[in-house]
Amino acid sequence: MAVIADRCPHIQVTVVDLNESRIAAWNNSDLKQLPVYEPGLDEVVARARGRNLHFSTGVNDAIASADMVFISVNTPTKQKGVGAGQASDLRWVEACARQVAQYAKGHTVVVEKSTLPVRTAAAIKAILDAREPKSVVSENIPTFSVLSNPEFLAEGTAIHDLEQPDRVLIGGSNTEAIEALATIYSHWVPNQKILRTNLWSSELSKLTANAFLAQRISSINSVAALCEATGADVQEVALAIGTDSRIGLKFLNAGPGFGGSCFQKDILNLVYLSRYFGLPEVATYWEQVIGLNNWQQTRISRLLVQRLFGTVTGKRLAILGFAFKANTNDTRESPAIRISLDLLEEGAQLAIHDPKVTTTQIAADLGKAPSDPSLDLQSEGTWHSVNNVVDAVQGADAVLILTEWDQYRELDWPILARRMRTPAWVFDTRSVVEPYQIAEAGLLLWQLGSGIDQGNL
Ligand SMILES: NC(=O)c1ccc[n+]([C@@H]2O[C@H](COP(=O)([O-])OP(=O)(O)OC[C@H]3O[C@@H](n4cnc5c(N)ncnc54)[C@H](O)[C@@H]3O)[C@@H](O)[C@H]2O)c1
Repeated sequence: MAVIADRCPHIQVTVVDLNESRIAAWNNSDLKQLPVYEPGLDEVVARARGRNLHFSTGVNDAIASADMVFISVNTPTKQKGVGAGQASDLRWVEACARQVAQYAKGHTVVVEKSTLPVRTAAAIKAILDAREPKSVVSENIPTFSVLSNPEFLAEGTAIHDLEQPDRVLIGGSNTEAIEALATIYSHWVPNQKILRTNLWSSELSKLTANAFLAQRISSINSVAALCEATGADVQEVALAIGTDSRIGLKFLNAGPGFGGSCFQKDILNLVYLSRYFGLPEVATYWEQVIGLNNWQQTRISRLLVQRLFGTVTGKRLAILGFAFKANTNDTRESPAIRISLDLLEEGAQLAIHDPKVTTTQIAADLGKAPSDPSLDLQSEGTWHSVNNVVDAVQGADAVLILTEWDQYRELDWPILARRMRTPAWVFDTRSVVEPYQIAEAGLLLWQLGSGIDQGNL
């Protein structure tokens, strides 16, 4: 919405949310305090906020004055009831639809921006239509068109992805509504990149796009394990296969597994829908993408314990990176959560560093308060967060790199090595370190997908 406001100064955009502290943070004069960390977002907000971009908790008023309403609420995986663990929980979408039905005036285009299961638009339309008595025709009675306009941005590169999208997808049946939305995007997106489809194709495309992306990560991660076993190098294999133009180089970085709020949730949705529509083989096929992702995370913690002589109880470990990827403060489904929990379960003392994730967020994710390292020297299964990498490695037996932040590519390893307990290890799940620098610093190295340290040369 900030980018729409930035690119279309003649359109008034009001972002409303029930969460008061979030809206207060969006209105904070200190742009460093915006609730989402995203490179370039602060500049976009600085240009548009107060001009034609507004943040408010006045949901009903904003609906009443809008020609177009974007439903962009969360759609997490259901925790209980029918479809628990797989289907999306649509309670917030439904609440929004009811609120729009109640407060909208005149003709309103309702745009599904949240990622939704296929055929959700039909449910939204049914709720909206219940407000439209068929027998009475009056100017005061609201009418609605529903469009699907899924969002393909990736966190960490969101502003670039929004300003120069590969495509914008608009699904619907009402041509006038589709063209009204297309006109907004046409202020900065070339018309040939604005794809118009039917509602169901649009909804299904979003789930499928995420499933294909996640599938590539699971595929390369499975190959990484094979590389380690055989003496091959996953970086070399990725380059060799990615230069085939039919395959392409993107999304071939092996790592600790995919995270973020979308991939797992959207694939689970696809799995649920496939089963629901009587296609169990299709469901099982996509389920494997998640199965491999889970395996990759447990594999890393198990392997680390093995290398540290079979135990990490009472040992200090430095965790570098907690966000699910670089350039975001988002930790939802971050592999760091499961890996840290496994290591805590094994009794390790973790010193966690991340340039953007707060201690409060880490505590919420781990379900455990931080300890005071100066008081709990002998403790087991504890963690604390640190502001710099030098403090993180103090007395540590191993450094585990889980997020590919640029600053981890430029660490002074000889200085860090002096603070660690020998024999000291670096476990690099993101291929960010140079092996010769680690060797020169007298440290042992395990790099994900590299078979070189397996004695297979
Ligand atoms: N995060 C991404 O990168 C991304 C990318 C593409 C699509 N999506 C999809 O977009 C949707 C939102 O994702 P997100 O990451 O922004 O989620 P989020 O949980 O960060 O934000 C959702 C917001 O909606 C608010 N909300 C819930 N119910 C409301 C209501 N009835 N009225 C007003 N506000 C309400 C919540 O308070 C919250 O602030 C999801 O469906 C997600 O799958 C997200």
